[in-house]
Amino acid sequence: MQNRNNINRIDALRADTTLPAEDLRALLLSMTQEDEEYLYRNAREVREQYYGKDVYLRGLIEFSSYCRNDCYYCGIRRSNEKAQRYHLTKAQILECTDTGYALGFRTFVLQSGEDLSYSTEEICDIVRAIRAQHPDCAVTLSIGEKTRAEYEAYYDAGAQRYLLRQETSNPGHYGKLHPPELSIENRKRCLQDLKEIGYQVGCGIMVGSPWQTPDNVIEDLCYMKALQPQMIGIGPFIHHKDTPFRNMPDGTLTDTIHLLGILRLMFPDVLLPATTALGTIHPLGREKGILAGANVVMPNLSPKGVRAKYMLYDGKICTGDEAAECRRCMERRIESTGYHVVVSRGDHPNFR
Ligand code: SAM
Ligand code: FES
Repeated sequence: MQNRNNINRIDALRADTTLPAEDLRALLLSMTQEDEEYLYRNAREVREQYYGKDVYLRGLIEFSSYCRNDCYYCGIRRSNEKAQRYHLTKAQILECTDTGYALGFRTFVLQSGEDLSYSTEEICDIVRAIRAQHPDCAVTLSIGEKTRAEYEAYYDAGAQRYLLRQETSNPGHYGKLHPPELSIENRKRCLQDLKEIGYQVGCGIMVGSPWQTPDNVIEDLCYMKALQPQMIGIGPFIHHKDTPFRNMPDGTLTDTIHLLGILRLMFPDVLLPATTALGTIHPLGREKGILAGANVVMPNLSPKGVRAKYMLYDGKICTGDEAAECRRCMERRIESTGYHVVVSRGDHPNFR
């Protein structure tokens, strides 16, 4: 049965994209199945106003599994001695982008742990080489917390987008997920620097991370409202057997798509991925994400031989497929939802 109050809240959110915290709390906690269907229908209508039926592809290249950080949730954290480490050379990364280009990718996302073996100049050199080889493509970096000068150098080299999830904007909660040397203040400083430099910025959280409360999620929504990111990446927290959070419960499909729907109404033109973690938690997770308002997918372009080594959480999907298989599989999945993938850079509307 529909809850009239929730329907009114969904209508209000669609009309002006902000709601008092108590209404957001009610939307997070008290939706019936019919309310959720109403939310997703509205989310789809809003995404279609901005993006039609298009779904953008990002080719994800996980180029290093080394990390100096020790985030308690993450499978490639420094202290995980069982993690298999690798890093790709510039030539290997360029092979991935060449393969990706032939498959119709026009955005490459270079992601890694915080691997200090690549100097700033080496990262810039890789970015420049990709932009020179494929001038019609965008390069996105997702390589963690850096100085403003480093972010400026990458931008000058041709990187135009940066993904850095805040993970949680509440300092107390942040402290439960990370060791003391990491701070939410520095994470937010990074996001602010990235925005000021002119990047298209992606932030985001893990849904259902250990000790996350509805109030934490509301705080994240408020933080993101103030930041105005161009992309918001969310996916369920999934435990990894060799981390301190091995026994923690995973985030759920329902909570993740629920939040995707709310995000679409609060941030009508934002780029919103249906993530790999969502596809890991449920075989049709990414399709359900698309039907809840997401408009981006990120198939894996990493060389087949290293994929299983970038194991952020248990059961991560798509670790055994070639790039071409992943691309075809994704196309079929998206078409099954009534949407379609497009060959496009897929910039945010304000950056076209
Ligand atoms: N080092 C970069 C950084 O910290 O932003 C990028 C790599 S990091 C592995 C990318 C994202 O993976 C993180 O922002 C985090 O949200 C996600 N992640 C890590 N461990 C996870 C887990 N156990 N479950 C779900 N997502 C996870
Ligand atoms: Fe560094 Fe996860 S702890 S990437």
